[in-house]
Amino acid sequence: MATTKTGTSSVSTPGTIEVRPATAEDHGPLVDLVLQAWDAQAVAEGLDPKSRPSQRRVRATLVDAGEDGRRSLLLAVEDGTIVGFGEMWVLPDLFVGGEVALLRTLYVDPRLREQGVGTVLVERLLEVAHARDARTVRVTSSIDNVEGLSFFQRRGLRSTGLVLTRNL
Ligand SMILES: CC(C)(COP(=O)(O)OP(=O)(O)OC[C@H]1O[C@@H](n2cnc3c(N)ncnc32)[C@H](O)[C@@H]1OP(=O)(O)O)[C@@H](O)C(=O)NCCC(=O)NCCS
Repeated sequence: MATTKTGTSSVSTPGTIEVRPATAEDHGPLVDLVLQAWDAQAVAEGLDPKSRPSQRRVRATLVDAGEDGRRSLLLAVEDGTIVGFGEMWVLPDLFVGGEVALLRTLYVDPRLREQGVGTVLVERLLEVAHARDARTVRVTSSIDNVEGLSFFQRRGLRSTGLVLTRNL
C-alpha cells in the first residue's frame, strides 16, 4: 500500500502519495493525465477520437474554471508526479433546495490503483462538500463503466436517473 498523506493524516509505506489541491503550476502537467483519462474512456466507451480535446483546450478549461470557490480540483502526487485527480463542483440546485456536490471526474493512473488513492481523493472531496453545506453528492459516469460504477456503489451511491447528452 502506498503512503497516502492527506494533509491531516498519513497512512503507511513505500512511495509517498500526497493528496492536495491543484495550483496554477499544476495545470501544465495535469493536462497529460487528463488526456490519458480521456483516452482510456474513449477505448472503453467507443468515443469518436475526433472529439478528443487538444492539450491547449484542456489547459484553457483548467485555467478558465478558475478558483471561484465552486470548483475543487484535488491531485494525488507521487514524487512530484501527478498520478490521480478528482474534480468536484458545488452548485445550487432548485429541487434539492440547497447545494449539490457534482463529482465530475475521478481518475487514478492504472499503475497506482487498488492502493487506496481513489478512496482518499473521494473522502477529501466529500469533506469539502460537507464544509460547503452540500446536501447531496452526484457522480456522472458512463453506464458502461462497470469498475467506476461499482467503486461508487460500494461507497453508498445509488443510480437515480440517466444523463442525456448531445453535442452542440
Ligand atoms: C475508480 C478509480 C478512481 C478507483 O481508484 P483506486 O485508486 O483504484 O481506488 P482505491 O484503491 O481507493 O479502491 C479500489 C479498490 O482497491 C482495493 N484497495 C484499496 N486499498 C487497498 C490496499 N491498501 N490494498 C489492497 N487493495 C486495496 C479495494 O478493493 C478497493 O475497493 P473497495 O471499493 O471495496 O474499497 C480508478 O479505478 C479509475 O481511475 N478508474 C477509471 C476512471 C473512472 O472510472 N472513474 C470513476 C468514474 S468518474
